[in-house]
Amino acid sequence: MSAIPHHIAIVMDGNGRWATRRCLPRVAGHKKGVDALRACVRHCGERGVKVLTVFAFSSENWNRPPEEVSGLMELLAMALSREVPKLKSEGVRIHFVGDRSGLSEKVRAGLAQAEAATAANTRLVFNVCFSYGGRWDIAQAAARLADRGEPITEQSLDRAMALADVPDPDLLIRTGGERRLSNFLLWQAAYSELYFTDKLWPEFNAAELDAAIADFGQRERRFGRTSQQLQPPAPRKVA
Ligand code: IPE
Ligand code: IPE
Ligand code: MG
Repeated sequence: MSAIPHHIAIVMDGNGRWATRRCLPRVAGHKKGVDALRACVRHCGERGVKVLTVFAFSSENWNRPPEEVSGLMELLAMALSREVPKLKSEGVRIHFVGDRSGLSEKVRAGLAQAEAATAANTRLVFNVCFSYGGRWDIAQAAARLADRGEPITEQSLDRAMALADVPDPDLLIRTGGERRLSNFLLWQAAYSELYFTDKLWPEFNAAELDAAIADFGQRERRFGRTSQQLQPPAPRKVA
C-alpha cells in the first residue's frame, strides 16, 4: 500500500467555471463546492489522513463583486449551521484560519461556535482557511513576536504561524487547472508535494482524491538530501 499523507492541503478552485459552463450563477458553483468538500472530508477520514486544510476564501477574494462576496458569506453561515452537527458526530475537529476582522459579528460567532462544538474530536483536524493569505499569516506571526519582544527566528516564526499545531502539509492539491499557490500556505508548503488537476472543484470526488494520494505515494521526498542518502543501508554479509 502506498503512503498516506498525514496532512493534505487543497486549493479548491474552479467553482465559478463549473457554474458558468452550466449557465448558472457563480454562487451555484460555490454551493456545489460545499457538497464536494463534505465528501472530501469524509473520504480523508476514511483513508486515515489526520489533517485536512482547505483554501475557502483568500485575502484577495474580498476584491470580487460584492454580490459574490455576500453570497459566499451567506453560504458559510448556512454551511456552518448544517454541517457542524455532522462533523461533530464524525470525529472531525474544525478550525478556522484567517483574518476575522473583516467578518460580520454573526459569522465570527458562528466560527467560534463550530470550533467549540468540535473541540474534543480527534479523528481528523479540518482547517478552513477563510479570509486567509500566506502573507497575512507571516506578517501576523512576525507582529506577534515583535509585540512580545521575541527574536525572530525560523523556529519562533513557525510557532507563531496559524498552523503551528500541525505538521506542514505533505501533499498540496490544486483543482481547476491553474498551477499557482495564489497566496496559500507560503511558509508551510516549503516541502509539500504539489499535485495539480484540471478537474474543477465541484467535480473532485473520492476517486480523484485517491488518484492524488496514489501519485503522492510515488514521490521521493528528499528534503535537500540525495536519493542515495534515503536508501536503507544494505544488509551486511554474514560469513
Ligand atoms: C474557488 O473557485 C472558490 C473561491 C475562490 C471562493 P473560483 O470561484 O475561483 O472558481 P473559478 O476559478 O472562477 O472557476
Ligand atoms: C484561490 O483561488 C483561492 C481559493 C481557492 C479560495 P482564486 O481563484 O482566487 O485564485 P486566482 O485568483 O485564480 O489566482
Ligand atoms: Mg478561481
